[in-house]
Amino acid sequence: MASPPLFASSMSIHIKNADDIAQMRVACRLASEVLDYITPFVKPGITTGELDRLCHAYMRDVQGTVPAPLNYAPPGYPPFPGAICTSVNDVICHGIPGERVLKSGDAVNLDITVITKEGYYGDTSRMFIAGEGSILAKRLAQITFECMWKGIAQVRPGARLGDIGHVIQVHAEAAGYTVVREYCGHGIGKNFHEDPQILHYGRPGTGMEIQPGMIFTIEPMVNAGKRDIRTMPDHWTVKTRDRSLSAQWEHTILVTETGYDVLTVSAGTPAPPSFVTDSVAA
Ligand code: MF3
Ligand code: CO
Ligand code: CO
Repeated sequence: MASPPLFASSMSIHIKNADDIAQMRVACRLASEVLDYITPFVKPGITTGELDRLCHAYMRDVQGTVPAPLNYAPPGYPPFPGAICTSVNDVICHGIPGERVLKSGDAVNLDITVITKEGYYGDTSRMFIAGEGSILAKRLAQITFECMWKGIAQVRPGARLGDIGHVIQVHAEAAGYTVVREYCGHGIGKNFHEDPQILHYGRPGTGMEIQPGMIFTIEPMVNAGKRDIRTMPDHWTVKTRDRSLSAQWEHTILVTETGYDVLTVSAGTPAPPSFVTDSVAA
């Protein structure tokens, strides 16, 4: 997720052409396939560092992709020391893989960004619960998944970016949860983080108009407690200030002439909620 404004690598919107879109479909499917691959390994007893090593080996040796996070260093940040982000429990985002051993009940977000040999980025994340999850962890993960999809369902030419943020915020807050403000979704293509920023809160009818050929992520971070964050001394790990649980899901989305196309799809992609599949939109 981009941190406004530090990760912004461009001040202009890149509208993608047909070739860009074809290349982005590949990058995004590959990112999603890394999540499919790692899913059976997310169990009590594994370390986040082992998950990182397995994902990195799969990208390098099976896919021929490069992990975008590794050594990623936006202005003011030290190089990120992992191939993926592993954010456990009260870690909101940018968790650094390491010696932490997953235990039953841990809620972990794995965030994968690959770079293809053609130079295109695909970015997606899912929540996992190791072993037996608490009612709270499962509900927070489900509501956050629904928040992402409520936002996706707003995407069509002529809608505004504030429409996306608004429905995400309303759904999270109706459940008694809060939306993290400091990090946001982002345009993506031949750069990891491009304009526009996709806020996960806001007012309907405000913000930039959505145009066909835009590709951006929607990646809400939702806290069970207060929305405030605390960044750890490693300069990367972002936690909830009140140590409450946090969840996140992420897809990369293409704006089509009539609606949206989710690009980060693969065999193991969780199905959209029924409020999406039961509607005629998109
Ligand atoms: N994948 C994250 C996003 O969704 C960004 C991670 S930056 C890293 O934008 F350096 F921490 F990997
Ligand atoms: Co992202
Ligand atoms: Co991501």
